[in-house]
Amino acid sequence: MAKRKRTAAAAPGAEQATKKHYRQRAHANPFSDHSLQYPPSPADVDWSVHYPAFASSPKVPEFADIGCGFGGLLIALAPLFPDTLMLGMEIRVQVSQYVQDRIAALRVTAPRDTDPSPYQNVSIVRANAMKFLPNYFAKHSLSALFFLFPDPHFKSRKHKARIISPTLLAEYAYVLRVGGIVYTITDVKDLHEWMKAHLTAFPLFEPVDEQTLRAEGKGPIVDAVYTSTEEGKKVERNGGEKWLACFRRIDPQ
Ligand SMILES: C[S@@+](CC[C@H](N)C(=O)[O-])C[C@H]1O[C@@H](n2cnc3c(N)ncnc32)[C@H](O)[C@@H]1O
Repeated sequence: MAKRKRTAAAAPGAEQATKKHYRQRAHANPFSDHSLQYPPSPADVDWSVHYPAFASSPKVPEFADIGCGFGGLLIALAPLFPDTLMLGMEIRVQVSQYVQDRIAALRVTAPRDTDPSPYQNVSIVRANAMKFLPNYFAKHSLSALFFLFPDPHFKSRKHKARIISPTLLAEYAYVLRVGGIVYTITDVKDLHEWMKAHLTAFPLFEPVDEQTLRAEGKGPIVDAVYTSTEEGKKVERNGGEKWLACFRRIDPQ
């Protein structure tokens, strides 16, 4: 059943914003986003609007959270990697508005005892990542790509809407630099097997286990992948299982 809607214009100020003010349908249809406008290429994105504290730096986003939902991963990682720009992509209008307001509020309220002050390195765009990822990210610009608890699209005829597919993997390989990591996690075993099978079959990715990632110093990222997102927390509350699968972008030479 569709949940109560509220327009972005009627959304409350960031100070009193809570998720309930931004509710909308639980699932987005990635094939009906005709009203969205996109930059023609990454060079056309003015990143200083997203990251004003980095306006004088040539930095571009290095971490991308695809289908970021309410932004839990971005908010958890932002203070851990203060010099790394991170971008969430979310197709649902109210949800992306919520994340935008959440970041704006955190930028104002967090203690400013660091330079740059916290959360300056994190932002969000409302976008259909299945269609327009390369409009935002240049070739080999990303070091991490996150797919956390993606919509499962259970029925076979809906599998084409899944965010991991052979065609899309070519795009993910294009935007990731060699050595970059794709992090996936889900509580749906069938989807886990699907993502693992497609990523394993793709020649530009190789599986990398959790232990190896931790040995490389990526433990805080793995921990955030497991626990920081709203969907991950829901799975925990319901006593569900979580399946992690990570892959490294390789150079086939
Ligand atoms: C089940 S939620 C998980 C959200 C978040 N990653 C988490 O773990 O809490 C999946 C999210 O992906 C978003 N989404 C689905 N298809 C998308 C697409 N093509 N582009 C961007 N976001 C998408 C949905 O709107 C939804 O917020």
